[in-house]
Amino acid sequence: MNDRVRDSGLGARDSVTTRDVSKSEAVLRAEDLTKTYQEGKLRAEVLLGIDLAVRRGESVAVIGASGAGKSTLLHLLGGLDTPTSGEVVLAGRRFSALGDAARGRLRNEALGFIYQFHHLLPEFSAVENVAFPLLIRGNAVSDARAQAAALLQRVGLGHRLQHKPGELSGGERQRCAVARALVTKPLCVLGDEPTGNLDERTARGVYELMLELNRESGTALVLATHDSRLAARMDRVLEMSGGRLAETRTD
Ligand SMILES: Nc1ncnc2c1ncn2[C@@H]1O[C@H](COP(=O)(O)OP(=O)(O)OP(=O)(O)O)[C@@H](O)[C@H]1O
Ligand SMILES: [Mg+2]
Repeated sequence: MNDRVRDSGLGARDSVTTRDVSKSEAVLRAEDLTKTYQEGKLRAEVLLGIDLAVRRGESVAVIGASGAGKSTLLHLLGGLDTPTSGEVVLAGRRFSALGDAARGRLRNEALGFIYQFHHLLPEFSAVENVAFPLLIRGNAVSDARAQAAALLQRVGLGHRLQHKPGELSGGERQRCAVARALVTKPLCVLGDEPTGNLDERTARGVYELMLELNRESGTALVLATHDSRLAARMDRVLEMSGGRLAETRTD
């Protein structure tokens, strides 16, 4: 363990997935987040002050027009980018207080990501890609591969385990990315249009799987989506507009 990890208080045995995050505690919190992109004279104020608390096991849809800032918000929530101001708190830990290594560990332990573009590793097979987050955690290779294969089976890719991303269709790659995000049963999955490239039937299969995991494992879901059927299945629907996030229904 290097000093930055030790200083952050995120020790090797300090697993956030086994840590008791109580029902009422937010697994993920945004506090007055702002994001301004500045490139030369071009300035884009994308987020103007976002407050959000995602509780354990909660499912949240983030909707909004193209360019509203959904991906920007998800990147900040996942610690992939830093806010201009404000804070993100994951499992009780502030990203701003962690060094790069500790932040990476926390992300591996507590989060699953489904990006707008899949980001699979091109030189590895589907089953290796899905097993990867478990191997990073220190699971045995045979166990990681078995769990990865079982999940790929559930997203309908049991017959494509050895295919590399370049040998899969766009929708198959997306399903593989979904399996990779879910395989660790994280506290929270962040998904950027996870069903965006899929036909209706496959999309339904993929989001049913996400909702099943949400129910079984208490994994919270925060999904940016243009899919109104998926949004309708979530506990809360929040709309990004004018740099702010507003609740659209609370039923
Ligand atoms: N790296 C960047 N530099 C400058 N501007 C950026 C950058 N990334 C995003 N933006 C701008 O921020 C705004 C929000 O982008 P973002 O990707 O968050 O939108 P979105 O809601 O995810 O849209 P979509 O539904 O099309 O995916 C856009 O106007 C975009 O041009
Ligand atoms: Mg986007």
